Amino acid sequence: MELTLKSARRLVDEIPVPLAVLGVWGGELSEEGQRLDALHRKVLSKTMEELHFKGEFGETLLVPLGLRRDEKGPGFALLFGLGKKRGASLETLRKAGAKLVQEVARLGFKEAVSETFLSEKFGKQEASYALAEGALLGGYSWNKYKTGGPASKREKLRLWLARSSGPAVDRAETVAEAVNFARDLVNEPPNVLTPAELARRAGEMGRELGLEVEIWDEHQIKQAGMGAFYGVAQGSANPPRFIQLTYKPQRPAERVIAMVGKGLTFDTGGYSLKSPEGQITMKCDMAGAAAVLGAMRAIAKLKPAVEVRAYVAAAENMISGTAYRVSDVLTSLAGKTIEVLNTDAEGRLTLADAITHADRQGADAIVELSTLTGACVIALGEKIAGLFANDARWGREVQEAAERAGEKVWPLPMEEEYLEALKSNTADLKNTHGRSRYAGAITAALFLAEFTDKPLTHLDIAGPAYTEKNHALGPAGGTGFGVRTLLELVGA
Ligand code: BES
Ligand code: ZN
Ligand code: ZN
Repeated sequence: MELTLKSARRLVDEIPVPLAVLGVWGGELSEEGQRLDALHRKVLSKTMEELHFKGEFGETLLVPLGLRRDEKGPGFALLFGLGKKRGASLETLRKAGAKLVQEVARLGFKEAVSETFLSEKFGKQEASYALAEGALLGGYSWNKYKTGGPASKREKLRLWLARSSGPAVDRAETVAEAVNFARDLVNEPPNVLTPAELARRAGEMGRELGLEVEIWDEHQIKQAGMGAFYGVAQGSANPPRFIQLTYKPQRPAERVIAMVGKGLTFDTGGYSLKSPEGQITMKCDMAGAAAVLGAMRAIAKLKPAVEVRAYVAAAENMISGTAYRVSDVLTSLAGKTIEVLNTDAEGRLTLADAITHADRQGADAIVELSTLTGACVIALGEKIAGLFANDARWGREVQEAAERAGEKVWPLPMEEEYLEALKSNTADLKNTHGRSRYAGAITAALFLAEFTDKPLTHLDIAGPAYTEKNHALGPAGGTGFGVRTLLELVGA
């Protein structure tokens, strides 16, 4: 859907559109709802009673207001159930925003106004922000490759938010647009979004928004000594790219934050081949990169006070006569040698070199996002990312940013004793602990932490980055997970 949000200072019935959305909290009309009810001969409360409308979260009821000829304002009210007020959070409003745009569009309205569901629980700004963000995320659709059919008839919807905060709605627009940009990148099929194409889009976006852009091709990657990254990439006919974007604030920053994203445009597993089933979602293996690039897009517009550098080692994990194999020894940029025990544990190899590079370029702290392990999905499921930190303070900063953003993360331990499992007889390290599948998310995190002494927080987003079902804030596919956390983290 093509959604335009408009912030208005006016009241719901002062906006000349056909539909007004009104909240119902715990079975009771909101204040704004009661005001309209009184204006319209109690038609709202009477209908609610007659139809036993309780207003469970997401339940809706469309009521014609029966306007007389001289009456202005919306001719229909859509009662929108918000559930009980006790226990409601900003996430409730975010989900409400998403649900209500879908509902309004489904009903066929092209223009509507919604109240901002203000209550004593939250301020006008945060309520406006959450509702607008939810609406813009919920309005996202992916139909680029559908020909004919209903999907190509793009529905347009203009939604007014009555009595909302303009600046909050503006910020929500920038943030949601960045999340949806990340979703587009993840949803793009891997034959289109090759490493070179990902780099081209990152470069185009960066240059357009005034970021510094530097992109290395396969020769420069090899030349730089990124042997671990290059090892993964060498099996594909689509050459790798190393993407670097830099945002510098106007006043010299006190802190440089590096954001690293896993950028496997497709992961077959390589010679340690994934099952057909296991490959189905593997176009999502660049979701970390998408999150980082999406965040940079909003950072360029919101201009926070810190310097932010983004790094993506983009490659494709394929099989061919030139592909890396099990038992190969790769020399990483840091100089450490790595014995490959499993070509499907490729993410950590590409990330090792990206993290080393970020460290050497002068990062004060590194946050890294990757669809790194199936083990993390087993541990925390599809809704929660694993958080690993070698520095408790930096870990907490990221965790708190995620909480503010409304993205779910949970800390897992970096148990030093498990590092033993990554010692190799042949090289300095091996990329997996061989046959054991115990603590796979933790050993992956320990591996990454071998490549920097700087504060490093690793988010394993293998679960929440991608979904095969529609979810509360959007359709099946890439979720854009991580963008909002990164923006909170850098204070954008
Ligand atoms: N990209 C996968 C991890 C993944 C799995 C992401 C499911 C999203 C959903 C990663 O490269 C991988 O294959 N990891 C292996 C590591 C193992 C070989 C140690 C895994 O998780 O099985
Ligand atoms: Zn893999
Ligand atoms: Zn992977």
